[in-house]
Amino acid sequence: MHVDRFERYWMWAATGMLALFLGAIVLTAVAGSAHPPSHVETLDPETLSVAGEFASPGLTEEADGSLTVHLRAEFYVFRPEIVRVPAGRPVRFRITSPDVLHGFQIVGTNVNLTVAPGYVSEATHTFREPGEYLVVCNEYCGLGHHNMQGAIVVEAAR
Ligand code: CUA
Repeated sequence: MHVDRFERYWMWAATGMLALFLGAIVLTAVAGSAHPPSHVETLDPETLSVAGEFASPGLTEEADGSLTVHLRAEFYVFRPEIVRVPAGRPVRFRITSPDVLHGFQIVGTNVNLTVAPGYVSEATHTFREPGEYLVVCNEYCGLGHHNMQGAIVVEAAR
């Protein structure tokens, strides 16, 4: 089969790009530990504000001494809006939505979750430095989307 010289160049170029992109994915997954979220846990979005772990959101210390923050992302506010956590300890964030799709991004960290009604999203982070971290919703959720923000206040370990 005759393939024109320039067509052959372009085929090799396209093949090279595919190999490059695939290599970039494998490299970030293996060397950079960047994995897509795989946590699947469902709940009823209509009752989560009434009963269960998301009815009174906030920081809780589990029986084993670990820290969990339960949050709700709902029309244009995070509940609680401001969360205080200690520095230097792993904090597990569990968040869900009773209405539409929201985002939960802690600016300056690797925590960046999509919050879907009916599902619990989870991420764990250890804040090394005390300070205030901005939390933003990064999924367009409606007219008040641009005002939907909160804060994580990291306090020096006592
Ligand atoms: Cu919530 Cu955008």
